Amino acid sequence: MQNNNRLRIVIQKSGRLSTDSKQLLIQSGMKIDLEDKRLITFSENMPIDVMCVRDDDIPGLIMDGIIDLGIVGENVLKEELLKRQSKLEDSNYIKLMRLDFGHCKLSLSIPINTNYFDINFFNHTRIATSYPYILKKYFDDKNIIFKSCSLNGSVEVAPSAGLADGIFDLVSTGATLKANGLREVEVICYSYACLICKSNNMNLFKKSIINKLLTRIKGVIKARESKYIMLHTPRSQLKKVMKLLRGAEEPTIIELGNDNKKVAMHVVSSENLFWETMEELKLLGASSILVLPIEKMME
Ligand code: PRP
Ligand code: ZN
Repeated sequence: MQNNNRLRIVIQKSGRLSTDSKQLLIQSGMKIDLEDKRLITFSENMPIDVMCVRDDDIPGLIMDGIIDLGIVGENVLKEELLKRQSKLEDSNYIKLMRLDFGHCKLSLSIPINTNYFDINFFNHTRIATSYPYILKKYFDDKNIIFKSCSLNGSVEVAPSAGLADGIFDLVSTGATLKANGLREVEVICYSYACLICKSNNMNLFKKSIINKLLTRIKGVIKARESKYIMLHTPRSQLKKVMKLLRGAEEPTIIELGNDNKKVAMHVVSSENLFWETMEELKLLGASSILVLPIEKMME
């Protein structure tokens, strides 16, 4: 039965998204032991219960309004959405935000030695996939006729087992394709993990918990992509250094003890920007550069 005083979040039990999902909840301040294999675990310090299931079950639990919040890959979400739409079943949900992990592609791949010219290669072929609805939509739009072979796992072995001419599956590092003598020929879409929420009536209490959690999650993600950078720069080059290393806010400029020619600058900036500009910073005379991780960032 639904408990209106506790929010329920569903995440993947084991697989590509599970470690990152658990870590995100814990870094957002939730005290919870997600190591044991229970279906539902209760948070000690927040009115939240976390449920761990197979990723393919997550969109349905949200769309049916059984669970309040979920972390799921856009790939799995899109497949369930198209499936439900084709059967005229409930398919409503709200996408709250994209997360910073679970990046992958959904691609068409064929045996490495097969000649490939263009997408028409796939006309009248049989393709093994766990994403038949996404594939059908893609090929229908291109007027390509194909036969699908729906498999829930081991899709990559279908061509060598003689079950299909190619596969349409998730590619992350590409190691699975390589290990099975396949090569990617078309990328159909990209996907990230995302945070979704049920769209039907939720009480004010639950809404306030979601808002609180969202603020925290945004803070955790922002902190992960930011670094606290401290450096010394010649006073004469300060303007140029500030321009190079643009930050979230104005930098802090601090006088040095016994050196009038230099000042210290502290700024919160993206780690990427730092690496991109490091050579130029050094040319401008920046020294004593320290890059520190940030645990949390609130706006
Ligand atoms: C996917 C996919 C491949 C693998 C690709 O399975 O089906 O087997 O990951 O990853 P790679 O390019 O890094 O080798 P996954 O276990 O993530 O998903 P699923 O079991 O939930 O379908
Ligand atoms: Zn799965």
